[in-house]
Amino acid sequence: MRRLPRAPHLPHRVPAQGRWLVQGPVRVPEAEQRRVEVGQLDACVGRVGLVGELGVERLVRFVGFGGLVRLGLVRLGRLVGLVGLVRLVRLGWFVRLVRLVGLVRLVRLVLLGLVVVVGGLVVGGIVVLARLVDVRREGCMSLGQIIDGKAVAARVRAEVATAAAALRGRGIAPTLAVVLVGDDQASASYVRSKTKAAREAHVDVRDHKLPATTTQAELIALVAELSRDPIVDGILVQLPLPRGLDEEAVLAAIDPAKDVDGLLPTSLGQLAQGKPTFIPCTPKGCLRLLREANTPIEGARAVVLGRSKLVGKPMALLLANANATVTMCHSRTRDLAGEVRRADIVIAAIGKPELVRGDWIAEGATVIDVGTNRVEGRAHLVGDVEFAAAVARARAITPVPGGVGPMTIAGLLENTVEAAARRRG
Ligand code: GUN
Repeated sequence: MRRLPRAPHLPHRVPAQGRWLVQGPVRVPEAEQRRVEVGQLDACVGRVGLVGELGVERLVRFVGFGGLVRLGLVRLGRLVGLVGLVRLVRLGWFVRLVRLVGLVRLVRLVLLGLVVVVGGLVVGGIVVLARLVDVRREGCMSLGQIIDGKAVAARVRAEVATAAAALRGRGIAPTLAVVLVGDDQASASYVRSKTKAAREAHVDVRDHKLPATTTQAELIALVAELSRDPIVDGILVQLPLPRGLDEEAVLAAIDPAKDVDGLLPTSLGQLAQGKPTFIPCTPKGCLRLLREANTPIEGARAVVLGRSKLVGKPMALLLANANATVTMCHSRTRDLAGEVRRADIVIAAIGKPELVRGDWIAEGATVIDVGTNRVEGRAHLVGDVEFAAAVARARAITPVPGGVGPMTIAGLLENTVEAAARRRG
């Protein structure tokens, strides 16, 4: 049987591109070694892919034996619920099947199936148990905290809903105007999520879906009209715009008091001066996640990968305002690995799947992965960071999905309610 590291201070193996890499030593202070709550883990490993990435050994190191059993029970409970649902839906089919095959033969078939499944489970269980016993003998290794963006975003959204309800109590209905041009599927999906979340947080939404043939003049006219509309508190023009439309010219038509995306030069300028009005939603979410993970920012070496207007640039400004020493890296950076290796905080927003290798991450660093890359052959979105290897070195890390993504929407809602309170409160 494959041997595992005996203790945290010894080198350990991590999976990397189908191979095993020896890493270590792991020097995570005792106080920072923590077990993840089962509920949190359940939320984070809500996808089979991540379980696969982490492997059973890592899971048991996260939650311990009891935790793993509880996690299994939670999953089983959900599966049984699902089977029940499917059965209900397919009841008609079941009746037809009984008529066709006969009840006795059907029962026999089901029993045979059950024997096969239970047999498989028993054999699989014995194999897994043997591996777990091995892990237990070898001792527990500390892994980084997985920052649960979904849970934090839910808290932010609840705060926003309370603030929005208070405004409504005073006759002010916070309102967000959403402008979507063209038929890009990803943009349409983002907009749907934003609209749903806004309505759930008592924020009214004015939807404007325009065809890809919309002219620059028509789009600017709409945005200018929304800027003048006293009912509208925030304007979101979903980016990217279809080719041929000038993004800057369109954004320039937004009233700065309604720039809930924080994308206008005035908003970025104010952020640069350390007096932000609206902070762009994704960097705002990243900062909140850093704080939720109790990451020391003041004096920390922070590396931001990517220099986009939406994420990289405002993120670097936010961190600098919080007294971090910030390095902004991009496609022309000479020694990306070296820059990342020196960082206490890594914000990866470069849009390249797993560009940041796990062994680039300094032990004890906090990693915020903004990447959402689709990779052929992988069922789930892939971040910019090689999660499975990085989690063994990081003090805290965001998963993809379930990390930064949900925070972006929460930030937009926060900004919208703030805009309503400032304009009409
Ligand atoms: N497209 C992807 N992310 C964003 C965002 O945060 N705001 C806007 N307006 N468009 C986006």
